[in-house]
Amino acid sequence: MAAEADDRVICVIGAGYVGLVTAAGLAETGRNVRVVEINPEQRAAVAEGRSPIHEPGLDELLSAVVSSGRLRAVEAMSEGVTGAGIVIVAVGTPPTPEGEADLSQVRQAVDEALIHAAAGSVVAIKSTVPPGTTRSLGRVSRRDDVSFVMFPEFLREGSALEDLRHPSRVVVGGDDPAAVRRVASLLGGPDTPRLLCDSVSAELIKYGSNAFLATKISFINEMAQLCELTGADIEKVADGMGLDPRIGRSFLSAGLGWGGSCFPKDVRALETSAGYHGQSFWLLKAAIEVNSQQRRRFAGKLLHGLGGSLEGRRLAILGLAFKPFTDDMRQAPAIDVIRQLEDLGAAVVATDPVAMDRARPLLQRTTLVDDPYEAVTGADAVGLVTEWPEYRALDWGRVLRLMRGRLVVDGRNCLDGAAISACGGTYVSMGRRPRATPATPAGPSADAVSGALPPLPLG
Ligand code: UGA
Repeated sequence: MAAEADDRVICVIGAGYVGLVTAAGLAETGRNVRVVEINPEQRAAVAEGRSPIHEPGLDELLSAVVSSGRLRAVEAMSEGVTGAGIVIVAVGTPPTPEGEADLSQVRQAVDEALIHAAAGSVVAIKSTVPPGTTRSLGRVSRRDDVSFVMFPEFLREGSALEDLRHPSRVVVGGDDPAAVRRVASLLGGPDTPRLLCDSVSAELIKYGSNAFLATKISFINEMAQLCELTGADIEKVADGMGLDPRIGRSFLSAGLGWGGSCFPKDVRALETSAGYHGQSFWLLKAAIEVNSQQRRRFAGKLLHGLGGSLEGRRLAILGLAFKPFTDDMRQAPAIDVIRQLEDLGAAVVATDPVAMDRARPLLQRTTLVDDPYEAVTGADAVGLVTEWPEYRALDWGRVLRLMRGRLVVDGRNCLDGAAISACGGTYVSMGRRPRATPATPAGPSADAVSGALPPLPLG
């Protein structure tokens, strides 16, 4: 506790996704950053300037800031926290079986940090925590000389460094205005919008942002269902709605819905938190239900497209990560979809450009191969789950020659359906009428695949 708090020295607790990207970004701006990580493998990777996760640009940045000495991975809390002006807590808040955020890692990190925290330092909670957590951590800390703020993060996997360097906004909440301002100055430039508020509002800004985006996706997915029933095209509907600047086109891409380490966990945690205050947050319950329905609807398209039985069928799945440009498999739609297809008797061969190692332990019945052309060879149907650019660029004529069947189900509406049907494929997507090809012994007609009703009469 002897060393004075120095804001040029930042301690980040937790070298997970958020902690590591934040630490590397702060070191890039010239701060002296120490990352406290208890996992020896993760710590060793960071110490060598290697990123333990796949994130574009992170390896290069880590190697630069580690070799320049501006970022250090340490094991002991004392080494990380002593003398730091700002201690950023970026440990996990995984969901409990009841859907709450498990705060045990946050509490432990804060307790240990406070033993070494300098007088005048600030503890900034970056982990996503339920409303009231930051204030209550401050109250129980018994350290009047240390301030607590909530410092939510808005990084997207796959473009996290870009988001960190050019944040859309910096939000910091807390009861000590000076501490809030110190933390708010860490990120962004003179033109970055900064919103300074109380910590409960900052906590709800984080949950509200994720829950709103997730609900927006579920809304467009419900619209996609209605498009199928009425014969409309969800891409046109989303384009038209998105042209209204109050709505905007982003997060209106229909498909397999949301996964990842944030949306599923945060939507449930917000819904559970609301419940503790006596509120039933019906909109979130619906968003969750629609999201799981999308996965079943996708599997259903494969099932119906192959005549109602998957027994003994070979299916190729393109893409495993929850979204492109990451190897993150947490809550990835691919897991539910593949397990469901396998439970229905299919033999699944799957591929992904970067997520195979993380997928293997989760998908033990599935054959994983590196080459997409190998994955599709002999397949009765192909299902696209993650919209990696390399799958859009496949030679679909070659794919169809290698397949045994004709059916291609595009769970992200990202493939060129016209080109696939011109090669003789039966192209089925989410929220659009299938591209018809004549019924053949190898594959059913497109209308049989969709089970689509004729368009409703207007008026
Ligand atoms: C999300 C938020 O976008 C970040 O702002 C936030 O900081 C982060 O969670 C977090 O809380 O840490 P991320 O999980 O990386 O970021 O992924 P997104 O790009 O938001 O995508 C989430 C999911 O929604 C993906 O499964 C994606 O495929 C899906 N999605 C996205 C759609 O199905 N349709 C869309 O139009 C957009």
